[in-house]
Amino acid sequence: MSYNLLKGKKGIIFGALDENSIAWKTAERVHEEGGTFVLTNAPIAMRMGSINQLAEKTGSEIIPADATSIEDLDNLVQKSMDILGGKIDFVLHSIGMSVNVRKGRAYTDQNYDWTHKGMDVSALSFHKVMQTLYKADAMNEWGSIVALTYMAAQRVFPDYNDMADNKAYLESIARSFGYFFGRDKKVRVNTISQSPTPTTAGQGVKGFDGFIAYAEKMSPLGNATALDCANYTVTLFSDLTRRVTLQNLFNDGGFSNMGVSDAVMEGFMEE
Ligand SMILES: NC(=O)c1ccc[n+]([C@@H]2O[C@H](COP(=O)([O-])OP(=O)(O)OC[C@H]3O[C@@H](n4cnc5c(N)ncnc54)[C@H](O)[C@@H]3O)[C@@H](O)[C@H]2O)c1
Repeated sequence: MSYNLLKGKKGIIFGALDENSIAWKTAERVHEEGGTFVLTNAPIAMRMGSINQLAEKTGSEIIPADATSIEDLDNLVQKSMDILGGKIDFVLHSIGMSVNVRKGRAYTDQNYDWTHKGMDVSALSFHKVMQTLYKADAMNEWGSIVALTYMAAQRVFPDYNDMADNKAYLESIARSFGYFFGRDKKVRVNTISQSPTPTTAGQGVKGFDGFIAYAEKMSPLGNATALDCANYTVTLFSDLTRRVTLQNLFNDGGFSNMGVSDAVMEGFMEE
């Protein structure tokens, strides 16, 4: 269903790797709602994924950029404005990666070079993206910037490893930069805290199957899907949420306010 919520709006979408990616679903929904955008991902992801299909489907151009490289980001922002014919209204940061998680290093046995790398990719990149946009004065007034996060920033999920710390940092950057972007450019900055979702990044977390099944049983509305996340992001890019900013918004079927549910209790009841 389309409501034309993003008619005439222009943006940049980071992080569509394959059709399971939250950014992929978001690009499809933004396209349906009338938005136009540039797709971007790390050069290596271009070879691994299938972003070309998405570009074709949505009539978008692709500009490769490593989100940790200021040079790449400068190029991305300038070229996006050329392609889209003016300043930008929306940006989705949908990027996450922990080398410690990938290589199975425990939280209590970090390789700190890897910790640094993961922090740069997953959190500091959000600052770099915003600083590049801010300095280039690339955002239109009443524009909207969204990054994706997970509740391990607030509560302990042992296997989420150093990504928990990266997400806490990411959410803090959203508030800190959101202040300056709001004050100086009338642009809003929020994070969406999404349910566990079966994507490449999600499934990289140890014990993901148990993780997602538990969250499903705990949440009165069940886990939010990638499509649910895409729909929520569309509302945040639209003009209907102009004064929502500096927020960490839970899109999780109610999980974050639960203590226990009947479905979870059942597993512990003695007959
Ligand atoms: N899947 C989940 O369970 C879940 C839950 C909450 C939040 N999130 C967050 O959603 C976001 C999107 O992840 P996803 O689940 O769609 O997985 P995904 O693997 O499809 O997307 C992650 C993306 O990050 C990109 N990336 C990695 N390094 C990069 C770099 N240096 N420069 C630019 N891009 C880079 C990858 O190429 C990939 O496209 C992430 O921030 C993730 O932490 C995911």
